[in-house]
Amino acid sequence: MEYLSRLDDFTKDASSFSSVRYDEIESFRIRFLGKKGIIAELFAEFKNLPPDQRRQYGQKINTLKKLVQSRHRQLLKKLSGNKQVHGNDDLTLPGDPVFSGSHHPVSIIRNEIINIFFRLGFSVSEGPEIEDDLHVFTKLNFPPDHPARDMQDTFFIEKNIPVNVTKDILLRTHTSSVQVRVMEKQKPPIRTISPGRVFRNEAISARAHCIFHQVEGLYIDIDVSFAQLKQTLLYFTREMFGSGTDIRFRPSFFPFTEPSAEMDISCLLCGGKGCNVCKYTGWLEILGCGMVDPNVLETNGIDSNIFTGFAFGMGVERIAMLKYQINDLRLYFENDLRFLEQFATHI
Ligand code: PHE
Repeated sequence: MEYLSRLDDFTKDASSFSSVRYDEIESFRIRFLGKKGIIAELFAEFKNLPPDQRRQYGQKINTLKKLVQSRHRQLLKKLSGNKQVHGNDDLTLPGDPVFSGSHHPVSIIRNEIINIFFRLGFSVSEGPEIEDDLHVFTKLNFPPDHPARDMQDTFFIEKNIPVNVTKDILLRTHTSSVQVRVMEKQKPPIRTISPGRVFRNEAISARAHCIFHQVEGLYIDIDVSFAQLKQTLLYFTREMFGSGTDIRFRPSFFPFTEPSAEMDISCLLCGGKGCNVCKYTGWLEILGCGMVDPNVLETNGIDSNIFTGFAFGMGVERIAMLKYQINDLRLYFENDLRFLEQFATHI
């Protein structure tokens, strides 16, 4: 009568049992309802009872059996509604979603620019963000009193008066400094682009920021012409903005190029008819360019009687703004997921 004498304890056990683990719930079922389980043993012993006790015990065993069955059902039901299942339990549960990140629009456009020029045979060069006056200004033909050196445009880390070309340390205001470093090290032919971050002391607004990204290009060889510059930039424009895009050049000035030009593309929105994006001109300004000033070639040890070159520089944020119709520069730097997630398919 070993089992029958513990009938009340078994009933207590069964009604207090609880678990959120499938394996524990299954052991509970086997312990009570299995072939050699408690209920089977109880019925086996039941046969040996004197007839007058059978009715009472029979009822008790049946009650226990029902209790175990309903407890088991209850726990399983709870389990299938519970997501934190351990082990290989409910295979019908949906998997945890995995979110992949997205590239920043500045990275997407920078990579696109690099790829286009890579197809034209340009290499990629990089240089330091903290620079000296020599590489950012002096070797690019900026006169000592040029306004770009002014405190309002340049973030100086160390500034001497008058200008000290190697001791004046600053954050580069353009990546033309990288091109100076390339010219110092490499003999023509040179065909390279320099993508990177640049810094200017500007008040932050929808249209200006103190940090932005540029890709500047330099091509130096025998007989490099303005016509080649135009064709290179036309190819770039049509690859970047579509084959129907036109370009135009306006005379401009940069200390390191002569002649210099500013390049516009036909408005992407109105196609040249005039709208509020192009301020009813039909054109959008996208980059500065020109023929490398012979002075720049000479200062960097390149014979300007043999070699000529062209250079250009563009702002990555500006191109991304036009391509994606982003109307506020600050969005690039705020890391707002509602903005960044929109570029998820452009990886
Ligand atoms: N360095 C110029 C700028 O930052 C761009 C430029 C590069 C213009 C090369 C002409 C030639 O605005």
